[in-house]
Amino acid sequence: MTPTAIVNAKGEDRIRGGHPWIYRSDVVDATGTEPGIVVNVRGPRNRDLGHALFSDQSQITLRMISRDDRVIDTAFWRERLERAISFREILEIDATAYRLIHGEADLLPSLVVDRYGDYLVMQALSQGMDRLTPALVPLLVELTEAKGVLARNDPKVRLLEGLEQKVEVVHGVVPETISVREAGVTYDVDPWRGQKTGLFLDQRENREAAARYAHGALLDCFSYNGGFALALAPRCLTVEALDVSADAVARVTANATANGITNVTAREANVFDELRRLEREGARYDTVVLDPPAFAKNKASIQNALAGYKEINLRALRLLAPGGYLITCSCSYNVDEGMFAQAVFEASVDAHVPVTVVEKRMQGRDHPVLLGVPETYYLKCLILRKLL
Ligand SMILES: C[S@@+](CC[C@H](N)C(=O)[O-])C[C@H]1O[C@@H](n2cnc3c(N)ncnc32)[C@H](O)[C@@H]1O
Repeated sequence: MTPTAIVNAKGEDRIRGGHPWIYRSDVVDATGTEPGIVVNVRGPRNRDLGHALFSDQSQITLRMISRDDRVIDTAFWRERLERAISFREILEIDATAYRLIHGEADLLPSLVVDRYGDYLVMQALSQGMDRLTPALVPLLVELTEAKGVLARNDPKVRLLEGLEQKVEVVHGVVPETISVREAGVTYDVDPWRGQKTGLFLDQRENREAAARYAHGALLDCFSYNGGFALALAPRCLTVEALDVSADAVARVTANATANGITNVTAREANVFDELRRLEREGARYDTVVLDPPAFAKNKASIQNALAGYKEINLRALRLLAPGGYLITCSCSYNVDEGMFAQAVFEASVDAHVPVTVVEKRMQGRDHPVLLGVPETYYLKCLILRKLL
């Protein structure tokens, strides 16, 4: 018998409104449940509301996985995985690394699976997905023919679930370095220690878009392994990549050499200091990319984050030559599209320059947004043109 969790009227409204997360305060009874199991969900008047993954630690107690009485068995999970994977096939992605499963937006809450060539890198970010991992891995292997699967279960959010942070192979073997291709560029990726699961796959389509406008001298700020720098290099005369991480800088250089790209130089720098220094020096660029880490990790840090976005955008606009392009991003979901646009607008006012919006973009299509669930819309990207 599947145990049942009863939610209050607010919880029922939230489920009916399409949100997959039900908070602890809206769960009135969870007798007989265990960490990470699938539960039936009922409303206050005993109405069946579907099934959810239960957590006894997280504030998100229930993550809805269905809204009907279908049995949650291997066939159910296989169908969910198949749907997510076949959607990526129709995207005709020109890369060997991309996201296969994007959690809530693939109706597989708290599960992330990225493909890196012949290998998969997965993250189980709740008790439920952690418990399901042994059942899901064979299905993933069968559907993708992966040679190896790495569980990159080191994100801090696992601590909120009472789960340990660990990185382990859960199928086959996974090498230290995997070589992948994105558009015409090959990258050596470290799936064990690289940021996120190895690469910032969510920016792939924005890199493609930015390549339409990039020209002249390019400054790639917060470059990581050189995603934007290397993708835009063939369009530019010179490319300077900046990152605070020595490891990232070394990888930009190594990736450039491996691809025979000779116009890229990378250096270790704090972008906030370096933009000021470049401005003092009177440097000029035709294209600037700003792709910082999430400045607002929570609601309390939104004001500081907005000040940070305004600061770097102001400096970047001052460094740009007339007719130049600024590709500016925010991956903080706590800073929504409107707030980010306002911060960039204020930067343009302070810089006294007229700016047009050439493209308004978001995370790539392999990282879909679930409508009505703002938590799934995190990456904003504006391509701007400085007119004068
Ligand atoms: C979102 S990632 C950039 C991803 C990259 N643009 C790509 O397409 O792969 C942010 C990067 O900013 C770097 N970083 C964080 N704070 C920084 C700072 N103050 N100055 C320079 N780099 C910083 C991190 O090391 C990380 O590599």
